[in-house]
Amino acid sequence: MKPELDDICLLAKQAGQILSAGLGKRHQVTQKGLQDDPVTEIDRQSEQFILERLAVLAPGHTVLTEESGLHNGNTEHTWYIDPLDGTMNYAHDIPFFGVSIAYAHQNQLTMGVIYDPMRDECFYAEKGKGAFCNGRPIHVSAETNLRSALMSTGFSMKLVEMGKDNFTVFKHFMLKSAGVRRMGSAALQLAYAAAGRLNAVWQMSLSAWDVAAGFVIAEEAGAVISDLQGGPDFFKPPYEFLLANKELHPILLEELKIAMQKSESSHEIG
Ligand code: IPD
Ligand code: CA
Ligand code: CA
Repeated sequence: MKPELDDICLLAKQAGQILSAGLGKRHQVTQKGLQDDPVTEIDRQSEQFILERLAVLAPGHTVLTEESGLHNGNTEHTWYIDPLDGTMNYAHDIPFFGVSIAYAHQNQLTMGVIYDPMRDECFYAEKGKGAFCNGRPIHVSAETNLRSALMSTGFSMKLVEMGKDNFTVFKHFMLKSAGVRRMGSAALQLAYAAAGRLNAVWQMSLSAWDVAAGFVIAEEAGAVISDLQGGPDFFKPPYEFLLANKELHPILLEELKIAMQKSESSHEIG
């Protein structure tokens, strides 16, 4: 038995209220590791709330959360929880962050919900049933011209540790596209691509809880997602991916190859 999509939308909205109520207050900010990985007491409160509700809605299921890790349970049913995606924005009172909840049945992602409490926008999808925002169907954009495409990516200190170079790729796409955003919330960036607001997204390293819900929603909205080589391994560490509509995706993949070759020859890291 798994909960209904409506239950999970309500859960994400209730967690989102914890985030909006805490915004602008003084926070206890601690670093989890590198200097760009903060956590606040609100991340933990939101996570605790979601875990308590899931224990009732989905008893015995496996749950993987950002702040408390793996909660072992029945591995047929796995939940991926990011209780506050965009903590750096949040800790700086920048109102762009959200709650991300996804469900996988037998390791297949089948349900995703992303809630933006500042705009009261709930993005959600169930495999095979289409993607929606607040009851309206959403679709990836129809843009086929790279020059007019607005893209988005992210950077983290982890990339430096991993020896990955996103700066060269960023510069390449900045010069070729309509622009590249760094929005500070991987989940909302995926929801925005699903809603056709962003034309393409690529990332070089994230975690399962950042992307699980966004992948379900974007695929249901018509996105093509691949790893950075064009293969199917995008929901595996290091969670690197390229996402666009089916016309733009192969064009971007070619450009990505050129950019990554440039990066190999320049050896720039970050
Ligand atoms: C972060 C955000 C950010 C991305 C980082 C993530 P958090 O998640 O999604 O956009 O660039 O890599 O860790 O820590 O705010 O949940
Ligand atoms: Ca996150
Ligand atoms: Ca988080």
